[in-house]
Amino acid sequence: MLTYNRYVELINDALHSFPYPAQPRGLYEPISYAIDCGGKRLRPVLALSVCESLGAEASTAINQAVGIEMYHNFTLLHDDVMDRAEVRRGRPAVHVKYGEASAILSGDAMLTLAGITMGKGCTETLLPRVLHLFNTTAMEVYEGQQYDMDFESRMDVTIDEYLDMIRLKTSVLLGCACKLGAIMAGADEDVCDAFYRYGEKLGMAFQLRDDLLDTYGDPATFGKEIGGDICNDKKTWLLITALSEDTTGEVKREITAPSDKTQKIANVKKVYDRLNLPERCSLLIDCYISEAIDALERTGISEKDKEFFTSLAHKSTTRVS
Ligand code: IPE
Ligand code: IPE
Ligand code: MG
Ligand code: MG
Ligand code: MG
Repeated sequence: MLTYNRYVELINDALHSFPYPAQPRGLYEPISYAIDCGGKRLRPVLALSVCESLGAEASTAINQAVGIEMYHNFTLLHDDVMDRAEVRRGRPAVHVKYGEASAILSGDAMLTLAGITMGKGCTETLLPRVLHLFNTTAMEVYEGQQYDMDFESRMDVTIDEYLDMIRLKTSVLLGCACKLGAIMAGADEDVCDAFYRYGEKLGMAFQLRDDLLDTYGDPATFGKEIGGDICNDKKTWLLITALSEDTTGEVKREITAPSDKTQKIANVKKVYDRLNLPERCSLLIDCYISEAIDALERTGISEKDKEFFTSLAHKSTTRVS
């Protein structure tokens, strides 16, 4: 198998030769802006590496890898509008640079491009499986995003509801990326499902970690504004736990009658620290990583290749950005 960075190079090459027209500029320029400004490329790396670990050439799944990254970037364009987030990957978000209408329309175009690309290079038997998986996953992501928004104005969100929301908005896409790689390699259904489970559990750890970094990340490397989740009353594991355990009523007060932005973030963070939430959240992340690694046992891949996915699980959830 290749290294993570080598997979990224393959994906970036394919993304840069993506055949979309230059005109109208207003539609396509925001797409290039979004795609060219980096990102970890985790989902397409999963698709290519899974495909290769099952004995096929990584390039067999290149169209599906590009499609899933295009889809992911589309969700980010719309997500930043929904979350009122102004910075993405260390640069102004698309809606800030080009306006909200452009973020919506260029996002729509990216979704369509993702759908077109997804079916390329599939045999007649694989095509319905690939498209069914992609479409089902895309619908689940929208459901997750709706719950995420609904939860902003609710005070009684449970940890189980939160976990299901992040499964929908984030985990299923990582599961889908893995399963696409397995389908394109021609793997049996149970192997495809084992890889889906690996991606899904990794996705849970990944979103928990993203939520943790939203408060505790290094502003220099996180690429997004720190404290955005607190400002938006996002019902993360941190906030839900703080709401249920904070006996001073401080967190509740900051939601119902907030201080100014900086003070609100500082006050809520103080409660998180007092309740030892970063460490406790990290333990939960570790549990999901273990479940992801366990799922590899049913994939039938070599011990050496298992190491690749084990190390990827650890690295992508201890990320600083
Ligand atoms: C951001 O995903 C959205 C989440 C699911 C947290 P990534 O953290 O993978 O974003 P990029 O593509 O690397 O910027
Ligand atoms: C993102 O969740 C999930 C999707 C984009 C579908 P977040 O809203 O936490 O992602 P970031 O932090 O903005 O990247
Ligand atoms: Mg967001
Ligand atoms: Mg969001
Ligand atoms: Mg986030």
